[in-house]
Amino acid sequence: MVRTSLLTYLALGLGSTAVLASKCGVATGSLQPVANFGENPTGLDLQIYVPKNLAPNPAVILALHYCGGTGPLYSQQSNYNPLADARRNFVILYPSTTHDNNCWDVASSKSLTRDAGGDTTSLANMVRWAIDEYDADPSKVFVTGSSSGCMMSNVMAATYPDLFSAVSCYSGVPAGCLAGSPGASPTTADPTCANGDNRKTGPEWAALLKGMYGTPEGYTEGQYPKVQTWHGEADFFVNYPNLAEQLKQWSEVLGVSFSKNETDTPQSGYTKIVYGDGSKLVGYSARGVGHTVPVHPEADLQWFGL
Ligand SMILES: *[C@@H]1O[C@H](CO)[C@@H](O)[C@H](O)[C@H]1NC(C)=O
Repeated sequence: MVRTSLLTYLALGLGSTAVLASKCGVATGSLQPVANFGENPTGLDLQIYVPKNLAPNPAVILALHYCGGTGPLYSQQSNYNPLADARRNFVILYPSTTHDNNCWDVASSKSLTRDAGGDTTSLANMVRWAIDEYDADPSKVFVTGSSSGCMMSNVMAATYPDLFSAVSCYSGVPAGCLAGSPGASPTTADPTCANGDNRKTGPEWAALLKGMYGTPEGYTEGQYPKVQTWHGEADFFVNYPNLAEQLKQWSEVLGVSFSKNETDTPQSGYTKIVYGDGSKLVGYSARGVGHTVPVHPEADLQWFGL
């Protein structure tokens, strides 16, 4: 009996040591709030999911909720956490905004400009905090999201291309599509973009995106992240033409052009739209799917190289 309880005690002791995977001792295996991740000019909240027995130098995924959502809700719906438990090689940041009907600010110049004190600044600081806290591999930082979260994924890749190496997101719009709109939510935004009526040429979209880094040439010190973007052909909320507009934008920025379509990939009814050799830019067009395309966590991790 004594022996058993001693073993139990030791096991519990080891267990509780193992949960302290971060410098500040954020617990593992469940969603945890992060009180202080640095400068947070727009007052965003952050929750983090760290798997038990996290491997050294993990990757970081920034996962952005849809309008009206929250980080905790997105953590339940996106299904990355069980994959983090299985692989143990990444942590997931689930921020929340409570402004503008819980939509990310993808409209104001403050947010559409690097280091200008908008939502993008707060989100970039979360990523920097996580890299430091978990000794993460800075070459393995990724952004994903759905709807408003996909709009913001494109904007994060435009404003902080140095932080991210890949984007995979669902049912969004090009970076800068809502520039100048009075808001970024269904009830506050100029509806032109979501209606699919903000059409530009590739070079026009690319110039808009590059300007968000703070110089007309954009990010020239390194590579822009590779991009995978998903959209439903029956999306009448963030209308389907926004897939083609995003692909025009990234095709120009990444310097790759359309090469082929692969039908029924990764599943029946989806078409994989391949640019170049498929290593930098891919679109997924989902037939019969509305708003939003369900998250495909395995396909995202594959794109991220995890
Ligand atoms: C590739 O697939 C997309 C989505 O279904 C379609 O809009 C486009 O016309 C296709 N391109 C070619 C060359 O077949």
